[in-house]
Amino acid sequence: MRISVVGAGYVGLVTGACLAKLGNEVTLIDIDEKRVEEVNNKISPICEEGLGELLNSAHIEASSNFQKITDSEVIFICVGTPCADGEFILLEQVEKASKEVGQVLRAKRGYCVVCVKSTVVPGATEEIIIPALEESGRKAGKDFGICMSPEFLREGRAVYDFMNPARIIVGEYDGRSGSILLKLYRSFNAPILRTNLKTAEMIKLASNTFLAAKISLINEIGNICKHLGIDVYEVAEGMGLDERIGSKFLNAGVGFGGSCLPKDLMMLIGSAKKVGYAPQILEQVLNLNEAQALRLVELLRKNLPLKGAAIGVLGLAFKPGTDDIRESRAIKIVEALLQEGAAVKAYDPIAVENFKKLFPQIEYGTKEEVLNSDAVLIITEWDEFNELNYKGKIVIDGRRIPRAREARIYEGICW
Ligand code: UDX
Repeated sequence: MRISVVGAGYVGLVTGACLAKLGNEVTLIDIDEKRVEEVNNKISPICEEGLGELLNSAHIEASSNFQKITDSEVIFICVGTPCADGEFILLEQVEKASKEVGQVLRAKRGYCVVCVKSTVVPGATEEIIIPALEESGRKAGKDFGICMSPEFLREGRAVYDFMNPARIIVGEYDGRSGSILLKLYRSFNAPILRTNLKTAEMIKLASNTFLAAKISLINEIGNICKHLGIDVYEVAEGMGLDERIGSKFLNAGVGFGGSCLPKDLMMLIGSAKKVGYAPQILEQVLNLNEAQALRLVELLRKNLPLKGAAIGVLGLAFKPGTDDIRESRAIKIVEALLQEGAAVKAYDPIAVENFKKLFPQIEYGTKEEVLNSDAVLIITEWDEFNELNYKGKIVIDGRRIPRAREARIYEGICW
């Protein structure tokens, strides 16, 4: 099929590259000329396993010109939905992209389906995206189809996740729209759920909120276990044997970050408040996550005075396998350390350049140099941190790195 993808970020690049690999003709549209050039030169603009090879092998073209996509059968909207001041979710990019796509629809003769993949608040496709598309004079359901099919891609595993989905959710304006989209997914062996547009939007937010809640819950249990002298990892193992609970996402630690979990949680909280419902669990999931980061600093403070101390930080990415620092716990922790008057030296295998943009004032060094600080905090569970020699050091561990226990003074965040 002829496919186009508007927005060449994480979701758009992976969606486009994977659909091209599956034999479709794909055009990526992005306003960032540098990104367009990189894709056309077969260079992956993001660090994502397998994406570089896909861009090299598959039929995919990038452009900043919407006129290039007038013959598309399916147009995906994958632009960002950034968060302002950690509170409001901005749907401006989605609205703008929808208006541009509307102009494409105006110039088009045949029927095509517009599929929203950007994560949006429930109701946004109906209330914002369809009206923006219809500004062109074309009518949803008559002149074009609409679907909302959320992505569930983990960073670092996004290509794998796209090719091996656990489920496919197709929110459809009408049956015709959904049936066309499903033609694209026919090679996948995954359960498919067809719903209305709003439900699909909610499934995405509810899924990530559930994962976030699972992490905050095990972190809270871990905090209690630490006081009681119980190993929360053993507790989690026992809990996970119940298949209703499951063993995944029960790693207690310094909390969750990334571009999705915190933001999706905030989106759902915002949506609830907008309809006059005050969410209780959701607010606490977020509060606990914020407090968990500061807990690491508190434990450190118990072991040495922070003013004037040289503190090493191991791990800046929000999780291993990525250079992404969005909502990384390291940001909050480094901010707190600086506020307390500590001198920070940090190391991460690939996220230093991104972190430097936020914190140009701190020092960066090799992991051995960072280990030579007065005390060390472990914030990301990179495998290589398990190969360091921690003997003689003071270590406060937020991610349960086994070898770190050899430190002279060792304390785990919830163990
Ligand atoms: C997440 C979802 O998993 C994915 O389905 C979605 O569509 C996008 O958001 P991602 O942001 O890549 O993916 O990260 P994920 O692997 O889910 O981890 C999120 C955060 O939770 C990380 O900071 C990680 O360190 C933390 N985490 C995860 C824990 O603290 N404990 C756990 O047990 C699992």
